Amino acid sequence: MASARGQFSSRFGFVMAAAGSAVGLGNIWGFPTQAAGNGGAAFLLVYLFLAFTLAYPALMAELIIGRHAHANAVSALRLVSPNRALANIGATTGLIGLVVASLILSFYAIVAGWMMAHGLASLADLVGLAGVADWLTTHALPRNLIFMGLFMVCTIGIISEGVKSGIERWSARLMPVLLITLVLLVLYVLTLEGAMEGLKVYLLPDFSRALSPSLIIAALGSAFFSLSLGVGTMLIYGSYIADDENLPVVGGLVTLVDISIAVIAGFLVLPAMYVALHNGVEIFTQSGALISEDTLIFTVLPAFFETMGLAGIIVSLLFFFLMSIAALTSSISMLEVPVAYTIENHGVDRKLAVWVIGGGIALISTVILLNFETLFGFVISLTTRYSQPLLGFMFCIYAGWVWRRDEILQELKKGNPDAGDGLFWKIWPWYVKLVCPLIILAIFSQSLG
Ligand code: PFF
Repeated sequence: MASARGQFSSRFGFVMAAAGSAVGLGNIWGFPTQAAGNGGAAFLLVYLFLAFTLAYPALMAELIIGRHAHANAVSALRLVSPNRALANIGATTGLIGLVVASLILSFYAIVAGWMMAHGLASLADLVGLAGVADWLTTHALPRNLIFMGLFMVCTIGIISEGVKSGIERWSARLMPVLLITLVLLVLYVLTLEGAMEGLKVYLLPDFSRALSPSLIIAALGSAFFSLSLGVGTMLIYGSYIADDENLPVVGGLVTLVDISIAVIAGFLVLPAMYVALHNGVEIFTQSGALISEDTLIFTVLPAFFETMGLAGIIVSLLFFFLMSIAALTSSISMLEVPVAYTIENHGVDRKLAVWVIGGGIALISTVILLNFETLFGFVISLTTRYSQPLLGFMFCIYAGWVWRRDEILQELKKGNPDAGDGLFWKIWPWYVKLVCPLIILAIFSQSLG
């Protein structure tokens, strides 16, 4: 039996859930190092500008379609289509989004498992279990499988509780914890020797680098990934928003939280790297660029924590705890995409759907782990570089060209009777119709090149 549709109980609940989806590994490790290597504050300004002028309109397309349909992406895109052909293309887009969301989760769970393992390793260090800590931080198949599985069980556990007591409750609990942990870490790291050097790299603008076309496109790509766009996640969260909620405002709040956390994370990661340099840890690659991505998180930062003795163990524990929470509030939003579809369109019970689909995704993660060298990078670039921009493009086409404009306005008026006279309605329809699709195509053609 299909269960009744869930709904977020408050604006705070929705904003925490959607911001929880948006704030993830991308914000905390992706954004800061990208900014550092690409013109510091100038990159920050370009990123802020693009996030508000382009990613925000694309987010609104998903939220409005979702709230109107009160259904998953497959049914929603079908509903807003005026004829059968467009309905079929829309449904196919929704289905592809569902597959892509599942594939993103399959690699995300692996990385999140590493975060949990490193967090536990700090705990083991704290109580003097050096051997256990060693095992937890060594890249090996059994450890990777166990922690990927553990992370998936946490994700499944939350999603099986449904929208209000699962997604909303846990996001509203975890997001404030995430913010407090992040701010505490920033405040501590800024007191250490060398931190100011990092701050300079982060905050001194170098416009000559930030205004290059390839960089603008990179900034836009990360803004799209960061706001979880293109795979129907935001659409399904939008479908759980109450009808009297003012959509442009809540969408704006989510964008604001996402960007703020990325910017605050910059105040942690960059200064931490330069404190590490001050303590004798290598932070540059052979070509002179800052070390980034997994080497940064799993080699540079742990080496830095080690130079700090007991304080380092506690900071490391907090840091990996923070990363695990950020990953969890994002992963639940990914799993909800295929689960919502299966419940609504095939009448399957939520718990059954969650365990079967979650189990299936864990199986895909296992296959990736068994063929790590060939599959890991491939799945990441297939989903984030190619599929997300193309699917984002389709959502904008449906909001800008396929769905009737007067119906969109009707939907907005439910939460704000004066929506037709506001600034949002003057700008957004054109953005989503022309500007967003063209820019997304530009990113896509660039990433093919
Ligand atoms: N927004 C997440 C991050 O920045 O890490 C990634 C993400 C979440 C992508 C959910 C796609 C998605 F459906």
